[in-house]
Amino acid sequence: MEKLKNGEVWRDVEGKEIHAHGGYIIKHQEYYYWYGEDRRENFYVSCYRSEDLMHWEFRNHILTTESKMEGYRVRTKLMLRKEDGGKVNLERPKVLYNEKTGKFVLWVHFENGTDYREAAVAVADCDTPDGDFVYHGHFNPYGYMSRDCTLFKDDDGTAYFISAARDNADLHVYRLSEDYMNVDCLVHRLWQGEYREAPAVIRHEGIYYMISSFCTGWDPNQGKYGQAKGMEQPWTSLREIGDETTYQSQAAFLLEVNGRLYYFGDRWRGSGENYFRSGYVAYPLEVKDGVLTMEYCEEISF
Ligand code: DGJ
Repeated sequence: MEKLKNGEVWRDVEGKEIHAHGGYIIKHQEYYYWYGEDRRENFYVSCYRSEDLMHWEFRNHILTTESKMEGYRVRTKLMLRKEDGGKVNLERPKVLYNEKTGKFVLWVHFENGTDYREAAVAVADCDTPDGDFVYHGHFNPYGYMSRDCTLFKDDDGTAYFISAARDNADLHVYRLSEDYMNVDCLVHRLWQGEYREAPAVIRHEGIYYMISSFCTGWDPNQGKYGQAKGMEQPWTSLREIGDETTYQSQAAFLLEVNGRLYYFGDRWRGSGENYFRSGYVAYPLEVKDGVLTMEYCEEISF
C-alpha cells in the first residue's frame, strides 16, 4: 500500500514538491483542498486538491503579489508588497467555505516582510475553492496583536478565528461575523502567559480539542492541548501530547478522515533557503479515557 513518508516534502501527482506549508485542508464536495504557504517567486498561498489525501493535483497560486485588491469595511491596509517592491510575509493561511454567501474566505497571518512587528491578520475571498482570491488587506482584530492563527468552523456554521496575541503570550478566540469576513466578538483569552503558537482545533464526539506549540521560532517543542465542551465554553488547562518535539513537528491543522482523527504538521527547516526543505507530517490521534494521544509513525496513509 502506498504511503507518505513523514518529514519529507510530499509531492504532487506530477512529481513536483508540494508548497503548502503551515497549511489547512477542507473538504468541499468530492475533493479535499489543501492550502498553504508557497514562498517561491511572487507567490504567497497555493492550493492543491485530492480525492484521497494521497494524490495531490496542483490547482492554483491563489494569492500572489499580483492578486486583485479590494478595500473592505474593516479598517484594512491593502499591501501585498513592501515599499521597496519586496514581498510581505503571509503565514499559516486557512480557508473556510461560507454556506450563506457561497464564498471561500481566507485568513492569514500578515507581517511586513522585514520583521514580525505588524502582528496582523489579512482576509481574502473567492467564489471557488481554487480560483484567484481577492485580497482585502490586513488589520489588528480589536487593535490586538495577531500572529500564529487558525480557523475553525463549528457544526452550525459558526466560525472562529484563533490567534496568538500580546506578543504571543495569550491565545485569543474570536467568533466571526456571519459572512466570515470580520471578527464579531472576542470570546476567550486562553492560557494567558503560556506563549502558545500554531493553534489547531477539531471537534470529536461533542468535545473540542485545541493543540498548540510553545514559541521556539522554527524549532519543534512539546505540543500541548486543551479541551472544552464548546468553543465558547471553559477550556481545560494544557496537557502534553506527543513527545518533547511533538515528533519533530509543529501543528498545522487537525482533520477527521472516515471517522479517524489526524494531526498534520510541518517539520520546518528554518527561514532561509532551507525553508523549502521543510517537510510534512501526519500522525493519528486517538481519544483514550478522555485523553487525547498522538501516535508516532514513519509513514502514513489515509
Ligand atoms: C513559529 C511559527 O509557528 C511559524 O509560523 C513562524 O512564524 C515561525 N515561528 C517564525 O519564527
